[in-house]
Amino acid sequence: MKILTTLLLLVVASLALARTSEDVPVDHKTINEKQLKTLWNSLDTNYRPCGDFYTYACHNWSDHHKGIQYNYHGVADLLGYEVNLELMEYLEKTPETDVPRFVKLFKDFYVACRETPDFELLDFIHWMEKEENMKWALFTPDDSKDFVFDWATILARFRKYGFNYIFLTESTIYQDANSFTTYLNIPNFKEMFYPIIELEMTEYNETIPLPCGTMNFEELWQILGPFEEKLLKIKAEKQQQPTILKFQELPYPWMQNYLKALMETQVVDPNMKISIDNMAYMEALDNLLQQYDAKFLARYVEIRFFQISHMLIKSPSEHVHMSLARSLLPMSAEWIYEQLHPDLRDEIPKIEQMFENVVKNLNKSLHMDESGIIPKEFFSKLETMRMKVGYLPQENTKNLLDSYYADLQMKPNDYYHNFLKILEFYYKLEHKYFDYANFAKDKEFFYKTPKYAYNTEVKPIYVDELNLLIFPLALFRAPEYDARFEDIFKQSSLATLMGVSLFDAIATNEDFPNEYVEKISGVISLYTSFRVFFSSLSTDQIARYQQVFGFSSVRELKRMFFLNAIHYRCYRYSDVTKKFVNFAVGHLSDFAEAYDCKMNNYLKMF
Ligand SMILES: *[C@@H]1O[C@H](CO)[C@@H](O)[C@H](O)[C@H]1NC(C)=O
Ligand SMILES: *[C@@H]1O[C@H](CO)[C@@H](O)[C@H](O)[C@H]1NC(C)=O
Ligand SMILES: *[C@@H]1O[C@H](CO)[C@@H](O)[C@H](O)[C@H]1NC(C)=O
Repeated sequence: MKILTTLLLLVVASLALARTSEDVPVDHKTINEKQLKTLWNSLDTNYRPCGDFYTYACHNWSDHHKGIQYNYHGVADLLGYEVNLELMEYLEKTPETDVPRFVKLFKDFYVACRETPDFELLDFIHWMEKEENMKWALFTPDDSKDFVFDWATILARFRKYGFNYIFLTESTIYQDANSFTTYLNIPNFKEMFYPIIELEMTEYNETIPLPCGTMNFEELWQILGPFEEKLLKIKAEKQQQPTILKFQELPYPWMQNYLKALMETQVVDPNMKISIDNMAYMEALDNLLQQYDAKFLARYVEIRFFQISHMLIKSPSEHVHMSLARSLLPMSAEWIYEQLHPDLRDEIPKIEQMFENVVKNLNKSLHMDESGIIPKEFFSKLETMRMKVGYLPQENTKNLLDSYYADLQMKPNDYYHNFLKILEFYYKLEHKYFDYANFAKDKEFFYKTPKYAYNTEVKPIYVDELNLLIFPLALFRAPEYDARFEDIFKQSSLATLMGVSLFDAIATNEDFPNEYVEKISGVISLYTSFRVFFSSLSTDQIARYQQVFGFSSVRELKRMFFLNAIHYRCYRYSDVTKKFVNFAVGHLSDFAEAYDCKMNNYLKMF
């Protein structure tokens, strides 16, 4: 196994050298021609645009896009792949003495990830014992004298690694330097909770030898399966306002123990404020837990924690390593990206203007709906939604980022340690006051712990608490956006994506039926970006575009608009996207006209 890994690393290293092929600067004309060619190359003319536009527009995309060592699966993922290449090259070429500390951290993480040998769950278990100076309940005999089977304390120990979805979630928000509120809420079982399956238990049974006198995995499974079923069945009516209690008023001992362990102190301020979103849920949870033995619950929490170690698994691909680094330290990655693309700064006002237009016109289109199908909350969210280009604070960036990451340390050659340290770092950041008073403009970046989620794709991010849409800098590269693109490319891809992202953001709210919103979002976003662009186009501009692209009619220009508008959504395999894209164009008279489709008037929305 070791030999195989080494071989793979060698292959990866040699491929890494063979990469930079397209770094020659290209002029305005060439890049626009190249974009058009990308669109043409993606077409599969065996399909009919009127019948299945998505497959027509995207089917041959994958033939022209094959990553080296990493098979990216769509345009959003391709953007991430190419950003990875640039970041790797930057790290390779830039002397360490020339970079700020937060970039050095980024590099250390990436290199350690590449160099650290893989390890197995059993290694992880022993490694945690050392790292945390702890003993596992799973390995402790039932009759042990010096061990307390206290699941709440065990839960708190793991909480700092982002483990925050068993039984309840905890978060802490500072009002100012001296006052904060801790929130205890129902976890989002639907999204975060994957019940443990028998197969996992069999695997644990086979790979983790437990000492005598403890519950073995078979015994645990007998209790665990039914327990999780009951846990997931807990129902509680929505509570309108959260209940605010003082620490000393908390009704359940485990709740107090949990918070005490989290704060790593024996004496908690009895007047500390706790906000609980749903007392009925907590009561039902308490009822369920009461029926179980402390030894079982302690071991159950640990088995759940094993699932965290799945998150740490890395493949031998250097792209996976870089995507991990990007996901865990997004601000460092953005900062490097900005150094490599200083020209992006000049585009920002234009992009902001585009967003404003999208909001204004989406709002107009939505107001045309008189059926009342669009919920009122939708409009109020739209009114206050803001956008930001890039994650970075705008002023004093370098110093801010250095102070932001000041407490984070990396160990060379210890990827596992580093990963967990980053998770812990985010946890600690959330649990201390960060003085951003002087940086009012940038306060969003220090307001809340960024949620860690491994993602290889480059796509807009929505921060619910702030009603803020972030468009990462790395999104602004071909084929999505380039400063040298003609406006028709910029508008069709970015304004359409902005529209769809706005809807997606609002649809994260559970009050809106998701599938429905996703469907109309495609129609309205495309309609809006198309109309905004073509309604403002003068005859001269149309003539110019036709000449630039060698078209003989406006219709061809319109077709190109639609192709480019959905290009970001091309995937190797995607029935879901196909459904939404085809639904969208099938309801647009502008599309029917551009492609000469017979349109069923019953379908027409715009
Ligand atoms: C796209 O791929 C298909 C085979 O899947 C091929 O027949 C076709 O010629 C390709 N190109 C175009 C422009 O359709
Ligand atoms: C669990 O492991 C033991 C030996 O360690 C074995 O005898 C038993 O059959 C295993 N059970 C399952 C369900 O795999
Ligand atoms: C949306 O449209 C309504 C009605 O025309 C208007 O009152 C409101 O200011 C608009 N909001 C935005 C963000 O454009």
